[in-house]
Amino acid sequence: MMMNLQQILAKASSQLKLNNIKSFKLDSELLLAKTLDVSREEVLLNLNKKISQSDIKKYNYYLNLRNQYKPMAHIFKYKFFWKYKFFVNKDVLIPRPETELIIEQILKILPKKSKKNILEIGTGSGCIAISLIRERPNCRIVAIDKSLKAIKVAKKNAEIHQVGKKVNFLNIDVDKYFGNKYDIIVSNPPYIKKSDLLSLDKDVKFYEPKIALSGGFSGLETFFKIIKKCNKLLKNNGMLFLEIGEKQGKELRKNLKLNGFNQIKIYKDLSGKDRCLVSTKNH
Ligand SMILES: C[S@@+](CC[C@H](N)C(=O)[O-])C[C@H]1O[C@@H](n2cnc3c(N)ncnc32)[C@H](O)[C@@H]1O
Repeated sequence: MMMNLQQILAKASSQLKLNNIKSFKLDSELLLAKTLDVSREEVLLNLNKKISQSDIKKYNYYLNLRNQYKPMAHIFKYKFFWKYKFFVNKDVLIPRPETELIIEQILKILPKKSKKNILEIGTGSGCIAISLIRERPNCRIVAIDKSLKAIKVAKKNAEIHQVGKKVNFLNIDVDKYFGNKYDIIVSNPPYIKKSDLLSLDKDVKFYEPKIALSGGFSGLETFFKIIKKCNKLLKNNGMLFLEIGEKQGKELRKNLKLNGFNQIKIYKDLSGKDRCLVSTKNH
């Protein structure tokens, strides 16, 4: 007997649920939509429709990947961030919605026609630099990453968004970077404590690059490097925007003050956790 969409969805989502995949219902629907090459809405409006044997085979292939905890963004090969769609693969962190807060805060202080010089440290997929340049096209942005594989992904995204000439992507460690003086420096560095890496969700632990996650023993090591470097790379009255872990604000305030930063403000993300630190250098 041929199955209909409702029946196969029920089976697929209960399989995913058994595997502790939190978004089991949504994922089963999105993967079925991908299989049938239609929107999720179309799936949900046609639950009585029959599914062919070849589509069942294709659907099982995707479900199998998800059951092995492959992230949805890897199966789809893209992720939406801010207003835009970014290509992603195993070489970069999958852009997170909470990182959009940093974009919001930067745009607040940059008028539309602003021509500021911006540096991004640890660009990964390029989602921050590319979103910023699309919103403020008269700015100049340099975006660095110590992972060559990540820089390749960022450049591919810049091509897709036709901003390849506006953002300068460089494969370099922040320690070795001696550039200009910038008006704004932005970074979402790796900030997970070494001891917390093992307890991450399997999707993250098995599929996202360690170099994008691990902030060393304390979780703060890359921040300390960045802050020290920013002391030299930021203009007087220049601003530093950092994404931070929910419990890292206090330590970072201390370190920033020691390095000549003040007017430190911390903003919370939508789930009420400290997430974005904004600080000005003046001394
Ligand atoms: C958490 S990911 C952020 C990626 C992207 N900006 C985002 O917000 O989705 C951190 C990135 O910093 C890079 N990175 C880590 N240590 C670095 C260092 N010392 N110098 C430059 N980049 C570094 C990693 O390769 C990774 O791509």
